[in-house]
Amino acid sequence: MRHQVCIIGGGPAGLLLSLLLRRAGIDAVVLERRSRDYVLSRIRAGVLEQGLCDMLRQAGIGSRMDAEGFVHDGTILTAHGTTVHIDFKTLTGKSVMIYGQTEVTHDLYDELDRIGAPVFHEAEDVAIHDADTEAPHVTFTHRGQTHRVDCDYIAGCDGFHGVSRNAIPPSVRREFESVYPFGWLGILAETPPVADELVYSGHERGFALCSMRNANLSRHYLQVPLTDKPENWSDQAFWTELRRRLPAHLAETLVSGPSIEKSIAPLRSFISEPMSWGRIYLAGDAAHIVPPTGAKGLNLAASDVFYLSRALIAQYAGEAQLLQDYSATALARVWKASRFSWSMTRMLHEFPAEGEFLARMQAAEVDYLAHSTAAQTALAENYVGLPY
Ligand code: FAD
Ligand code: DHB
Repeated sequence: MRHQVCIIGGGPAGLLLSLLLRRAGIDAVVLERRSRDYVLSRIRAGVLEQGLCDMLRQAGIGSRMDAEGFVHDGTILTAHGTTVHIDFKTLTGKSVMIYGQTEVTHDLYDELDRIGAPVFHEAEDVAIHDADTEAPHVTFTHRGQTHRVDCDYIAGCDGFHGVSRNAIPPSVRREFESVYPFGWLGILAETPPVADELVYSGHERGFALCSMRNANLSRHYLQVPLTDKPENWSDQAFWTELRRRLPAHLAETLVSGPSIEKSIAPLRSFISEPMSWGRIYLAGDAAHIVPPTGAKGLNLAASDVFYLSRALIAQYAGEAQLLQDYSATALARVWKASRFSWSMTRMLHEFPAEGEFLARMQAAEVDYLAHSTAAQTALAENYVGLPY
C-alpha cells in the first residue's frame, strides 16, 4: 500500500497528527501495536494546556471537551507548612482544561472513524526501512499477513518503548537522562475531588497530588519507593497515607472510596536528540519523557505534533524550511518544559539520599514563591504552557 505519511503509534500524538494531516488533504496511515480497547483503557494525563485545547477545537473535535471538561484558573501548592494559591488567570490571562487523555484519544478515534482514516490496530513487528533515502518504507504484520507501506515520510509517535527512535543510528543520536529514585502510585476513585483545584503537596513523608476527572471522579497520586507494588497497597492504606500528606483542612474533607484503577509509574527525564533523521520525524514520548509533576507529557506530545503537522503541510505546499527546522524548533520547547517538570519534581518530592540541605532549599523556594508575584508568574506561565 502507499500513503504519503506513515505514522507509527496510535497514542494521542499519532492520532492527532493523522487528523491534522487529513484536514489538510494529506493522506496518512496509523500503525498501532495494541488493540483499541487497550489504548483506551490506559489512564494517563488529565491536564490540557490551552495550546492543545485550541488544536483540538481547530481540528473539529473540541465540542465534547468544551462541554464536559473543567476549566481551571489556578492550582494549590502546599509544602513545608506554606500553602500558595497560583492564580493562572490573573497572572497570565490563561487557564488549563481538566479532561482526561483517555477522552482525548476517544474523541480522536471517533473522528478518524467518521472520516474513514486508516488505523491498523494490533500491527506487529513494525520495522522501518530505507529511512535515509527518498523512498522509505515500513513493514508490519497484521492478522498473520505481512504488509508494506511505501511513503514519503515516517512519523515516529510510538512512545518511549517504540521502534522509531532506535531507527536513528546511535552514531547520530545523543540521549540525556535523569532517573528519579521513586515512582508515583496513582488511583482513580468515584469520589468527589478534595478541592475545586488540583492540590500539589510536598511533605516529609513524600509528595502527594490530588487531581480529578469530574465532580465524582478523583485521580490521586503518592510518591512511593520504586520497590513498592500496587497490589501491596490496599485502598485503606492509600487513603490513610494521602490524608497524612495533606494540610489538615484538606485531610478533614477528603472523601475516600474504592479505587477503580491503581498503578505505579516510574519517574524519568529523558531527551533524545535530534528528533529527525532522514525521512523519520519523532514526536511525543518517542523522543522525550518528563516526570509528571508539571503535567507536561501529553502537552509536549501535542506541541511536537503542532510543529510537525505545520512543517509537513508546508513541505507538500513546496516550502521545505519548516521541516528542516522541525527538530530544533520542537527541542527548544521540549527542553524548557523538561526544565519546568524537573524543577517542580525537585521542589516537591522527598529525595532521601540528599539530606537536610535539599529540604531547606525546597522550603526556601516555597517561601519565595509565596511572597513573590514574579516567582508565581514564572510558575504559572510554565504550567499553562509556553507559547508554540
Ligand atoms: P503514547 O501515549 O505512549 O503512545 C504511543 C503509542 O505507540 C502507544 O499506543 C503504543 O501502544 C504504540 N506503540 C509502541 N510501540 C509500537 C510499535 N513498535 N509499533 C506500533 N505501535 C507502537 N503525563 C501527564 O502529563 N500526566 C500524567 O498523569 C501521566 N501519567 C502517565 C502514566 C503512565 C503509565 C505513562 C506511561 C505516561 C503518563 N503520562 C502522563 C505521560 C503521557 O501520558 C504521555 O506523555 C503521552 O501519552 C504521550 O503521547 P504519545 O502519543 O507520544 O505516546
Ligand atoms: C494529573 C497528572 C499529573 O501529572 C499532573 O501534574 C496533574 C494532573 C492527572 O492525572 O490528573
